[in-house]
Amino acid sequence: MSKTISIAIDGPSGAGKSTIARAAAEHFGYIYVDTGALYRTLGLGAVRNNIDISDTDAVKAFLPTVHVEMKHDKNEGQRMYLNGDDVTGEIRYPEISQAASKISAIPCVREHLLQMQRDMAEKYDVIMDGRDIGTVVLPDADIKIFLTASLDDRAKRRFDELVAKGMDVTYPGIYEDMKKRDEQDSSRAVAPLKPAEDAVLVDTSGNTLQESIDLICGVINNALEKARG
Ligand code: DC
Repeated sequence: MSKTISIAIDGPSGAGKSTIARAAAEHFGYIYVDTGALYRTLGLGAVRNNIDISDTDAVKAFLPTVHVEMKHDKNEGQRMYLNGDDVTGEIRYPEISQAASKISAIPCVREHLLQMQRDMAEKYDVIMDGRDIGTVVLPDADIKIFLTASLDDRAKRRFDELVAKGMDVTYPGIYEDMKKRDEQDSSRAVAPLKPAEDAVLVDTSGNTLQESIDLICGVINNALEKARG
């Protein structure tokens, strides 16, 4: 069997990664893998079990007791399960974003989730989004993209997205939450958020969603054509 294609899309929260990556995956007929959802599900598990996330030993002891599963359905996309419970919606709440960001800084957590991500890329053609896909998870990915936008743009987008879902949030709250997460994700010792040396940098500030999708599909198309010779 021929090798599968892996496309890594990394970048800070709110850069539109998930929406753009999902649309691009649909366009190319690949599976879209949202790796942030794995950290969110573990974060939710820790919150539900009253685990103190600042206590690394407590988190380490918690990992073998929890079952995180990721399923991909043609119509429904990726769904997340925590001990068999569908938590796809619940993991999007802002307090779970913070728990995910904190728990993701713990090395044993990253190690725990690493193989699951690599297995997906081994089995399927994937567009995988996260923070360290091009640098750590899939260092040999065929195409690496680092997607970003200004903090203001990203906070505005996330605010609109959550309001559309009927969540009770404020713009200053989302802005501060995002700023804090950027700092946490970029400054952590293991797998910090940073572009891979061979990543294509794409800034979506000021773009409409469709412009960003077209831009990314163009980058992927060019790279695939180049690789095919
Ligand atoms: O992409 P997201 O906002 O759903 O991710 C939630 C948190 O998980 C984010 O704050 C950082 C962390 N994360 C990570 O450390 N590595 C990844 N590959 C994906 C997400």
